[in-house]
Amino acid sequence: MAKKSVFICQGCGYESPKWQGKCPDCGNWNSFIEEETNSLRSVIKSKKTKKNTPLKLSEIQTTKKDRILTQIEELDRVFGGGIVKASLTLIGGAPGIGKSTITLQMASYLAPNYKVLYISAEESASQLKMRAQRLGINSENIYILIENRFEVIAETLNDIKPDIVIVDSVQTIYLEEIKSTPGSITQLREITFKFMNYSKRYNFTTIMIGHITKDGAIAGPKVLEHMVDTVLYFEGDKNGYLRVLRSIKNRFGATNEIGIFEMMSKGLKEVKNPSLLFVSLGKEKTPGSALIPIMEGTRPIMIEVQALIIKTEYQIPKRTIVGFDQKRISMLLAILDKYLHLKFATSDVFVNIVGGLKVDETAVDLGVMAALISNFLDVALPSSVAFIGEVGLNGEVRGVTFIENRVKELEKLGIKEVVIAQNNLKPLENLKMAIKITTLSQITDLMRFINLS
Ligand code: TYD
Ligand code: MG
Repeated sequence: MAKKSVFICQGCGYESPKWQGKCPDCGNWNSFIEEETNSLRSVIKSKKTKKNTPLKLSEIQTTKKDRILTQIEELDRVFGGGIVKASLTLIGGAPGIGKSTITLQMASYLAPNYKVLYISAEESASQLKMRAQRLGINSENIYILIENRFEVIAETLNDIKPDIVIVDSVQTIYLEEIKSTPGSITQLREITFKFMNYSKRYNFTTIMIGHITKDGAIAGPKVLEHMVDTVLYFEGDKNGYLRVLRSIKNRFGATNEIGIFEMMSKGLKEVKNPSLLFVSLGKEKTPGSALIPIMEGTRPIMIEVQALIIKTEYQIPKRTIVGFDQKRISMLLAILDKYLHLKFATSDVFVNIVGGLKVDETAVDLGVMAALISNFLDVALPSSVAFIGEVGLNGEVRGVTFIENRVKELEKLGIKEVVIAQNNLKPLENLKMAIKITTLSQITDLMRFINLS
């Protein structure tokens, strides 16, 4: 096959026959690298094609996917109820966040029942052993292979016949027959494709670690995300102890499920009751702090949002938002200005989600606004009240999804009162709960609620 050379954007995989300064697809600068490619497409094309007859949908039998359980609830949930056999999962995360740690721990949870091969091209065998000792892992069923050439790895796979293969990391493994450097788009694509193929053919389950670039994407992201079965991101503040494993894509389960862990001196420990991690219940609230039950996948988690408003010392007031969308806050501030005549034009506004969680749902609007009003007026909200609701541009308070799950979580935590949208009341009417439910339909009602309480 004639070798073809193309320029490939290392950010998104865009291919171009000539070098370009800026990628027309993802907008990255200086991201084009010349790669020699007998690309996947040509590999696929060159295979002999067999005849394939379509089946009638009604006649197709469903096969229940066999799942591998780690027995760690937080992990199994993220995979959609265990890892599907012969699937390939990509775990992305910043360097030092704990990817090698969590995959080694997974190896040890699985080792009693499955043969695990841990392929590392990043660390030496003794470095790995040291980590294992620190984690208290010493299993007969975990094999370590320090190797970065795929050709050699393939032979080992054949010899050892593992059930689980961990690849640390995809960026360091390469195919010798391809000229591009390890970690380049062509290599990443081929290596992933090869592991994917081998997993299905030899019936082993692959967990592949991928580093992410500083802007938070797995290097060569789009290309790999499309190819693999499941994509998980490992998030958290490297200097803090909290870690969140989040499913971004899952061919066999719901996305946006999260597993929450704490980084301890002996590795990652699952957090079974995360609500208690993010809020301090029972304490008197200070002005500017509100409780909100959010949904992470199918699970409700209680968070605390804090707002601080001070007179600005600059010409342009500052908006410092941590864990929440900045544009959304600007919108909420505009609504408060228009309908409640609260003026923020000469104030710096800080909003923070306690505990470092990132929140991406409109159901927190009402709670965020309650925190903003509370700090603006310098009145503390009652300590045992939570808020649920989206707020529209006309100042109307709207109902949100999963209202029952959210309110049940509050009930479980012993919260005394919840403020919700009027049109969210119906599904709650027949539930026997001790929690007091207050309904609102306009943002002006929220002001009244705060002033009365
Ligand atoms: P690591 O798994 O090596 O991260 P990654 O593979 O994502 O680069 O974890 C790195 C950090 O985790 C390191 O700074 C030390 C810390 N750590 C602990 O706090 N406790 C432990 O038991 C282990 C193994 C690591
Ligand atoms: Mg590592």
